[in-house]
Amino acid sequence: MNFKNISLKNKNKISLLTIERPDNLNALNLETLSEINKALKSLEFDNSVRVIIITGSGNKAFVAGADIKEFSKYSKKEGEEMARSGHQKVFNYIDSFSKPIIAAINGYALGGGLELALACHIRISGRNAKMGFPETTLGLIPGYGGTQRLPQIIGKGRALELILTGKMIDSSQALEMGMVSLVCESEDLNKKCIETANILINNSPFAQKEVISLVNLAFEPNKNGFESEIKAFGSCFQNSDFIEGTNSFLNKRKPEF
Ligand code: COA
Repeated sequence: MNFKNISLKNKNKISLLTIERPDNLNALNLETLSEINKALKSLEFDNSVRVIIITGSGNKAFVAGADIKEFSKYSKKEGEEMARSGHQKVFNYIDSFSKPIIAAINGYALGGGLELALACHIRISGRNAKMGFPETTLGLIPGYGGTQRLPQIIGKGRALELILTGKMIDSSQALEMGMVSLVCESEDLNKKCIETANILINNSPFAQKEVISLVNLAFEPNKNGFESEIKAFGSCFQNSDFIEGTNSFLNKRKPEF
């Protein structure tokens, strides 16, 4: 598959998806979002891929936001359409993806860039990373899920403070807030993400898919996540991963999923 704004490298069951617009600090234009959507679609049903790592090219930025140059002249209708299609094509798609997705935050993660990281299931950051929502400084609000996912992840008070002030925080502040789960030296970021991906690969893909969907249900007020958990728990018992997992335990060997 040929892409203009991203690259995709698959190795040892891990797919590395890199946003390749370093001259614009990997800002997300519409074409890039469409390419991310296409790449994810291809990975969803590719059994040779178990974990995806998303990162930005270069050592300065993960993603410095939506592409301001592209949307600066948008109308109300175009603005709404930009947000709606972004939610559908990329941000919600990642959030509910059937395989774990790790954000490798290698520099600025601002606006849509931070929203991209927040939609991923696990966030690992290099020490040089800076995160924030500068939208209100542009007369905007976060439009790719930031007002919803940030409070879910770090709590309402801290989310409001960050979004209202538009200030940037560094990786140690992000760690302290629970916005990222690990901070490492910037040069070790790739290695740390691969280590985490390899831990994920050892576990049942069926169980992981269920867990992603159930944890997301915890944030849907009109759905009964407890009932869904009970049903999903039952369905594990008729899945081959359960047979492999329990047999391997009883026979004192490692499971192969
Ligand atoms: N959209 C489009 N282009 C962007 C961009 C964005 N979100 N962020 C950075 N760029 C471009 C710059 O316009 C510049 O391009 P140019 O050389 O054609 O002028 C290039 O990337 C390098 O950025 P620059 O601002 O020169 O780097 P810097 O090191 O001085 O500052 C930032 C880095 C991240 C602090 C600064 O680029 C910035 O504030 N970016 C916008 C962040 C933002 O508001 N994001 C939310 C958008 S809704």
